[in-house]
Amino acid sequence: MNIINNIRQLRSWTSINRGTRCVFVPTMGALHEGHAALVRAAREIAGQAGNVIVSIFVNPTQFGPNEDLTKYPRTLIEDLSLCRDNGADAIFAPKAEDLYLPDRSIQLRETSLSQTLCGASRPGHFDGVCTIVAKLFNLVQCDDAVFGKKDYQQLAIIRRLVRDLDFNVVIHGVETVREADGLAMSSRNRYLGAEERAQAPALRAALLQAREAYVKGGVRDGRALRQMILDHLTAAAPVARVDYVEIVDAATLRTPTEATGLVLAAVAAFFGSARLIDNIELK
Ligand code: PAJ
Repeated sequence: MNIINNIRQLRSWTSINRGTRCVFVPTMGALHEGHAALVRAAREIAGQAGNVIVSIFVNPTQFGPNEDLTKYPRTLIEDLSLCRDNGADAIFAPKAEDLYLPDRSIQLRETSLSQTLCGASRPGHFDGVCTIVAKLFNLVQCDDAVFGKKDYQQLAIIRRLVRDLDFNVVIHGVETVREADGLAMSSRNRYLGAEERAQAPALRAALLQAREAYVKGGVRDGRALRQMILDHLTAAAPVARVDYVEIVDAATLRTPTEATGLVLAAVAAFFGSARLIDNIELK
């Protein structure tokens, strides 16, 4: 496995590998089984002949002033073994100062999909995500890129980024990987205290209950579904401080309409200092 630490080394790797299908998995490190599933999916897409490259970069521009940038876990040695064990060919782990010059003056801004859900409570977050992903796509020169459905809004925004800026990259979404009790794997789960950890699976249980009501009970009223999720959380996770519960069109992330094909239920809640998110497609 190649370990690439700077742009010069990356340019030489991409030029040696020109003509070989390249599948890219962008991450911020602190890797867990969810990321491992993305690397394995990338391996599958690339086939034996292709290349899988994983980036590990804690992107400062997507963190708000009061968020956990400096506290964000950094576990590079373990991350490298996880990537190797799951079939990566190369790791790109640049330094922040290599990617962001002090006098940089251009960045991307997303003006629609980022206005709801997590974007509403994290202003500027998805502009930072779009900027870094566009930079990484330009650097890595991949043919495909793999993202998790756990960050459903991010996946929708990346698809829009590719469409609106004409990136020649095929985007693949991978199902959320969970702990045995249903909690979505996240690098932020390590911040949970015992009581918070015990109650956190309620997020998944509440979403499953809403899906049951939608699919089996025929409940279509978004407000009723939303209330059901809130009631479940109040009862099963009293330590949680709910940030949002939303029932949206999975493509537009807005209120479902007649034209809505797929409905998404999405939730974010603070368990202590950790802000956890989860979602479910209602089908
Ligand atoms: P990060 O939070 O490290 O996540 C990297 C990728 O792993 C994302 O596509 C995310 O959706 C996916 N992922 C995380 N937990 C998962 C789980 N339990 N199951 C399946 N996939 C999971 O998302 C980012 O980094 C950054 O915003 C990034 C895209 C790298 C830009 O900086």
